[in-house]
Amino acid sequence: MEDVKEYNKEEFSIQPDSLLNFIKFRRTIRQFENKPVEKEKISKIIEAARFTQTGSNMQDVSYTVVTEGIQELKALTLKSLKKIGEYMLANLTPQTMAYKRYAELWLKMYEEYLENPNFNDKLFFNAPALVIVTANSVVDGALASSNMELMTNALGLGTFFSGFFVRAAQDNKEILDFLGVKEGKQVVTCMVIGYPKVKYMRTVPRKDADIAWK
Ligand SMILES: Cc1cc2nc3c(=O)[nH]c(=O)nc-3n(C[C@H](O)[C@H](O)[C@H](O)COP(=O)(O)O)c2cc1C
Repeated sequence: MEDVKEYNKEEFSIQPDSLLNFIKFRRTIRQFENKPVEKEKISKIIEAARFTQTGSNMQDVSYTVVTEGIQELKALTLKSLKKIGEYMLANLTPQTMAYKRYAELWLKMYEEYLENPNFNDKLFFNAPALVIVTANSVVDGALASSNMELMTNALGLGTFFSGFFVRAAQDNKEILDFLGVKEGKQVVTCMVIGYPKVKYMRTVPRKDADIAWK
């Protein structure tokens, strides 16, 4: 019960336009300062996830924070992507043709990594921290991740979601063991986090919303 807070209007409300602007202003960050992320900030990001709703109140979302182990995880991930890329290139179909460029990129990333492990990091972009979200329900994990992203930005940090990592982790025992993924859970997102080295001065245009009003 120590988690439970009494309602207080000032502390518990946010102006709709401020919220919308905050969401509009969020951008993917791939350039990071060479500076660690404080443990308290990571804990606060996870706190935003912990209070996110889950289907049937399952509270089935777990987190692996990787800082010290990034190099080891990067090696496992690039090895996995290389294997997936090779398989894709050897089994191209008209349906998978659109992914050919990713397969080629993954092979190139692996070659570059072997030449110089710290140069041109197109996987984690030399970020100091990762939070990998696993869950029984993908929807629960994704909802939690979205709130984590908002908190990351509110704390002055930057992040991007690594779909490459999620792909590499699928059915990869070495990566799943490294992360300590529990039985029945799957890797939903990988948040790559650090202090941003870039500052955006405007929002981006987006496609119109595809809405049906009935
Ligand atoms: C599910 C998901 C997976 C993504 N995977 C990657 C990735 O592996 N590498 C990367 O550099 N960016 C990745 N991104 C970032 C997107 O490319 C980015 O969000 C998109 O281009 C829009 O840019 P913005 O976030 O700045 O608005 C991913 C984003 C999402 C939502």
